[in-house]
Amino acid sequence: MCPPTYFDVVYSINDWMDPTEPVDVRLAMLQWSNLVETYRSLGHDVVFVDPVPGLPDMVFVTDSGVVVDGVAMGARYRTEQRADEAEHVLRWFEANGLISPTRPEFVNEGEGDFMVVGQTILAGTGFRTDPRAHAELAAHLRREVVTLNLVDPSYYHLNTALGVLDDRTIAYLPKAFAPESLAVLQQRYPDAIIADEADTAWLGLNLVSDGRNVVLASQATGLAAQLSARGFVPVPVDMSEFRKSGGGIKCCTLELRGVERTRS
Ligand code: ARG
Repeated sequence: MCPPTYFDVVYSINDWMDPTEPVDVRLAMLQWSNLVETYRSLGHDVVFVDPVPGLPDMVFVTDSGVVVDGVAMGARYRTEQRADEAEHVLRWFEANGLISPTRPEFVNEGEGDFMVVGQTILAGTGFRTDPRAHAELAAHLRREVVTLNLVDPSYYHLNTALGVLDDRTIAYLPKAFAPESLAVLQQRYPDAIIADEADTAWLGLNLVSDGRNVVLASQATGLAAQLSARGFVPVPVDMSEFRKSGGGIKCCTLELRGVERTRS
C-alpha cells in the first residue's frame, strides 16, 4: 500500500474526478489508515511503498503492477500524469526481490485491469490497458489471460466493474461490459453475483476478499447483503474521499501473491 500523503484531485483523467471539488486530505489519511488496520485485524501483512510528491494518484498502487507466484509485472501508464508512478513501484519490486523481467512494452495499469481469479487472469481493456498487454502478461506470468472489453466510462478499470471473491467466484456489473465479453463472463461464471448500480456507484465492486472476508465500501449495502446470502462476511470500510478520484479499496491495495515476507 502507499500512504495518501500527497493524495489530491488536481487533474481529471476519469469521469469521477472534478478538480474543483475539494478533497479532505486529513479524512483521506484516516480512511486509508483504517483500511490498513482492517487488513491487519484480518491477519494480513501490510507493507508500504513511499509516496512521492507530485504523484497524487500513487495511493492507488494496485494500478502499478500485478504479482503472481512471486513474479511481478510492472505497469506502464496510459496518462502522462501517472507515468512516473510505475518506476517507483518497479524499484520497490526490485528492492524486495520481485523482479519484473522487463519493462512492459504496452500500456497496462496493473491490477486496475488485471484481476486474478484462481489460475486465470481476467484482463480489461477499452479505456486504459492496451489489449496487446494481455498477451505480454500471459507470456510473463505463464497464466491464461482472458480479454474483457469495457464500454462504460464510469467503469474505466476492470476493478471498478468486477470483484474477485474467491478462486471461482466473482461479482460484476453487466452493463460495464461489451456484449461478447458479457457472454464470456456468463459462460465462465454462471454462479457470479450480479451487482446493482446503486452499489457500484459507490465503487462497491472495488473490493478485496480473502475468500471469506470481503472488505468493501460501507455504502454498498445491497452488495453486502448479497455477499452475506452467499456465505461471505462483508467487512465495510468507508473510502469516500478516494471515490472523488475514481478509486476505492482495491485500488489502494496491491496483493503480493506468492511472496512470503517482504521488507518494507
Ligand atoms: N485517479 C486515478 C486514475 O484515474 C484513480 C485510479 C483508481 N484505480 C483503479 N484501479 N480504479 O487513474
